[in-house]
Order: sequence, then C-alpha cells, then structure tokens
Amino acid sequence: MSLKDRIAVALDVGSLSEAERLIDELSDHVGYFKIGLEFLMSVGASNIVPYIHALGAKVFLDAKFNDTPDTVFKASRAVADLGVEMFNVHCVGGSKMMQKAVSGSRAKVHGGKSPAVLGVTILTSLDQQDVTDLGFHHGLEMQVYRFAQKAQESGLDGVIASAREVEILKSLVPKCKEDNSDFLLVTPGIRPVWAPKNDQKRTLTPAEAIRLGADIIVVGRPITKPPIEIGTPVNAARVILREIREEVES
Ligand code: C5P
Repeated sequence: MSLKDRIAVALDVGSLSEAERLIDELSDHVGYFKIGLEFLMSVGASNIVPYIHALGAKVFLDAKFNDTPDTVFKASRAVADLGVEMFNVHCVGGSKMMQKAVSGSRAKVHGGKSPAVLGVTILTSLDQQDVTDLGFHHGLEMQVYRFAQKAQESGLDGVIASAREVEILKSLVPKCKEDNSDFLLVTPGIRPVWAPKNDQKRTLTPAEAIRLGADIIVVGRPITKPPIEIGTPVNAARVILREIREEVES
C-alpha cells in the first residue's frame, strides 16, 4: 500500500463546492476521501464519486449502516454500484447483517471490483464510561475485540477502531495476527500533537497509529480545518505524510 493510500481525509462538509475544493487541493497528497453523513444528507454521493475518481483518488463511503439484514443487503448493493472502494456497517447490527452487507456488496449489477466492507466497532468519540452507560459489560477493548472477531467471522474485509485498540486486535483476532494480513485496520480519532481533540476521546497521533499497525488512518478536521500555525489543508496533509514516512522508514 502506498503512503498516500494510508490516509483517508474525512470530507465532513455540507456542500459540493466545499468538497470539490478540498478534493482538488488534496488529491495529490492523500489516497482516500471519506464521504460522511453530513455530505450524504446535504448533497448525496452520486456526483462526488466520479469527481474523486477523476482525480485518481479512492472513495470511502462512511454511512455506517445498521438496519435489518435485507435492508442492508440492498443498500450495500446500491453502494457497490456507485463504484466506491470502501464502505462500512456497524458491527452491533449483528453477524447476519454483516454477512448480508458482504453479499450485497458482491452482488453489483454494473460489474467491476467490489468494495471493501468494514465494520465499525466502538466509535472513537466514546470512552469506557460511555460504553458502560450503554450497557456493554465487557471493558471497551474487549468489546472492540468481540466486534472485530464477529466482523471477521462474517466475512468483512476489516474493521474501524481507535488506534489504541490495534495492539489488542493484532494479538487476538486470528487474521490480524498474520504478517501482511489483508484484514484492514482503519483508525479514526487521529490527532497530530498540534491539533485540537474536538469531540474525539480515544485519540493517537498519525505516527503512533502507524507504529501500532493501523493500515489506514482517517483524518478530518486536523487536515480540513488546520490550526493557523499549520496553514492550509495541503500543508497539514504534507506534515502528516512526513510524520508517517518517518515512522515507516525508522
Ligand atoms: O475530524 P475528525 O478527524 O474527528 O473526523 C473523524 C471522522 O471519522 C468523522 O467523519 C467521523 O464520523 C469518522 N469516524 C469516527 N469514529 C469511528 C468511525 C468513523 O470518528 N469509529
């Protein structure tokens, strides 16, 4: 995987023009653009997917499906037909739902490569207290592990977790233990030392996440709304790329 492909920028914006501006600026520096709920609800996916592809980047559609298995099957087939490279479902939707997400993604009408399906374990905006409040009786890390285990058994291509849990996933989930595993570990909640935390709780820096074994880091506001001393989104992406490169080469 190229260095660029290890960064997914979260396009958490509400207009096509804002998204296009960021894609124009950043497509030489990052491999994936993540389209999230705000954009999907305000603009929709169909215009932006070809735009991103035309600039040589990949699309991660972050709609976090969590519904009945048949509904998720049809939604996953529709997402696959948009031609995205990656999309996700909540593991809490259960094994049957995850299996249907995979079969839906492989049932593309228009042919071509099927997208990777990722399972959201526990959102990086939640901490142990939140997870206990929700009634999960395992510790947060064990809950992430259980979700990842179910995701793998259900045929998913990887999971989304905090980089803080990558170590436990690599030691307990069978596929994650393998060298050069193709089970993707995608980690949001990334905060370079110079960026504010915002609503994220379980954060790590880009270098820490890569060192622990994250395959792809998801970075939103530190790149799209960088602090003044960092400058433009392109500068922020460059600084993060440099940090990752130094980590990979060290
Ligand atoms: O701006 P920030 O870097 O916090 O953006 C993180 C992005 O990753 C957001 O779009 C958020 O929805 C997404 N995400 C997350 N935690 C997950 C899954 C996705 O923060 N577990």
